Amino acid sequence: MSATESDPAPPADVYGEYRELRASRPVSRSPGDPWRVARYEDVRHVLKSHAVFSSDVSQRTNRDPNASPSMLFSDPPIHSRLRGLVNRAFTPRQIAMQEGPVEKRCEDLMARLTQKSSGDLVKDFAAPLPVGVIAAMLGVEDGDFEAFKRWSDAIFTNIGEILIGTPSEAAIAAAGQMDGYFLERIDRLRREPQSHLLSGLVHVETEEGRLSDAELLMFCRLLLIAGNETTTSLIVGCTRVFHEMPETFGSLKRSPEGIPAFIEETLRFHSPFKVTIRRALEDVELAGESIAKGELVLPLIASANRDEQVFARADEFVMDRSPNPHLAFGLGIHTCLGATLARMEGRIAVMSMLRHLDGIAFSDPGGVELDGFGAPASIRVDLKRAA
Ligand code: HEM
Repeated sequence: MSATESDPAPPADVYGEYRELRASRPVSRSPGDPWRVARYEDVRHVLKSHAVFSSDVSQRTNRDPNASPSMLFSDPPIHSRLRGLVNRAFTPRQIAMQEGPVEKRCEDLMARLTQKSSGDLVKDFAAPLPVGVIAAMLGVEDGDFEAFKRWSDAIFTNIGEILIGTPSEAAIAAAGQMDGYFLERIDRLRREPQSHLLSGLVHVETEEGRLSDAELLMFCRLLLIAGNETTTSLIVGCTRVFHEMPETFGSLKRSPEGIPAFIEETLRFHSPFKVTIRRALEDVELAGESIAKGELVLPLIASANRDEQVFARADEFVMDRSPNPHLAFGLGIHTCLGATLARMEGRIAVMSMLRHLDGIAFSDPGGVELDGFGAPASIRVDLKRAA
């Protein structure tokens, strides 16, 4: 047996590849693939120029005419109407209301995780936390939580096909079941309003009108796609820093006021949303390359966040980095709607780890792909319980 047959493939050095792209091929593509944009200033430019680089990227010809376009994948005026309405319900007050429940959820999950000296960081903590938060915002009751988590997983695992290909049977079935569940809820909320986000969305009314049932369903799906896996990745990223630089754990324990800067640096260093997508609406030149109308463009957010022209010691984790103008939450009209919530969840998750533990390390660091798309489904960790 040759060495290549017996040895597992070495982990891809994505950041090394990004460095090389930024240095010599800042806007490039392989034949037939989308363009990849690697430098900070070019990524920033693409994200800000929504009139040239469209978010309406779907190539599917079999789009359901009754389905509403997703806010994330639409342009003005559709995007402006949806974002305007949603902004009215997704208020700082709604986010602040989540703080107590997020703390309680973190404490419960962490208390269970730390009953033993090892556990699964993702399955037992980093994944259930954001799903639970979004479920609460959408008024999903406890008994329905398992089904909600299943739909959420099926939709996320098939995200590529949902966007630009043909979604799998499993994804279509999951989305259909979830739609049925929420349609029934929406109907009830019209008659009996409650204090959660979905109820706010059902009743929001502006000069733009109201959100239709199809738009409300689209938004429920979008929250799952945009808010779960990303927040899980942020918590995994923070834990990865604790694993690779254990001194950061002790330092934050002594000085918890450093947590917000630590979260920002984790967002930069281990960007949870590594790449997004746009379609050129006209022929355009970027960094000397000619991008033709209709071609797809991938702004590499994770590469922009390591750009040495913008960040000193870009490939080092500097836990008190300031300023830190990372692009982890995007920029322009599609800037992450859930950024404040995600930061809060990250901060509370870290606080909970610091309270319950004296240290945390990956049991088998080589056994998981940490720089891929999305968060790993499972990471075993060794836990040093706080004395
Ligand atoms: C660490 C966690 C998160 C990261 C890194 C992240 C990142 C991003 C990025 C980069 C975008 C812009 C994508 C683009 O321009 O194509 C975005 C959009 C969005 N995010 Fe987040 N996100 C996170 C958490 C959340 C959460 C918790 C929610 C909601 C509960 C959320 C809801 C959204 C929505 C609705 C959009 C679409 C906004 C629009 O199109 O106007 N995100 N996010």
